[in-house]
Amino acid sequence: MKLFLDTANLEEIRAIKRWGVLSGCTTNPSLLAKEHSDWEVQMKEVCAEVDGPVSLETTEKSAEAIYEEGMKLAGVAPNAVVKVVMTPDGLEAGKRLVEQDVPVNVTLTFSPAQAILAAEIGATYVSPFLGRLDDAGADGMHVLRDICEIFEVQGYQTQVLAASLRHPMHVVEAALSGADVATMPYDVFTLLVKHPLTDLGLEKFDNDWKKLQKELKEGAR
Ligand code: E4P
Repeated sequence: MKLFLDTANLEEIRAIKRWGVLSGCTTNPSLLAKEHSDWEVQMKEVCAEVDGPVSLETTEKSAEAIYEEGMKLAGVAPNAVVKVVMTPDGLEAGKRLVEQDVPVNVTLTFSPAQAILAAEIGATYVSPFLGRLDDAGADGMHVLRDICEIFEVQGYQTQVLAASLRHPMHVVEAALSGADVATMPYDVFTLLVKHPLTDLGLEKFDNDWKKLQKELKEGAR
């Protein structure tokens, strides 16, 4: 399972990139709005910073306008992936983009039925939003598992991109379910590396090592 960062923030991208585990990035209008900068410049800079696909979301509503906007977004950088929302117009525009060899990510997907539609238009990615399903009192992980199973049984090539992940167990469960990609905010990424036993273990190793150095210096050994 590939790990993507769900952000439009360059510092966050640079920080996780240094770990050597970052395979791509997803953005959305809310994330770009948070950056308070020229969104077109920001999109370009994010694409330049990430070694891997970067999803850029369309904001238009009619199929024609989504398609036009999608073609423009595809031209932002060679690694741009165009996000279309799971609506009839989004699907229509998405299909046309796929026919132009533009990689498409169908976003705001909340059910297996919707995911099937994304696969049928030949999208590169479909993004089920787990956290938002949980927030609405549904079982996001159950939806993800069903989508992964359907895609396996049907041999769909569309990659399942588990999105709206809120904590490390979401990431672990997504991997167990067979998701192709997990995208998560910076905070969740940093939690993946943390474990109290690692911190305790490191403290003990450090203390023992310092004790040995002190004893050697004092000639006690
Ligand atoms: C994915 O592409 C979306 O940008 C993202 O995962 C949404 O997550 P949220 O529900 O935390 O806003």
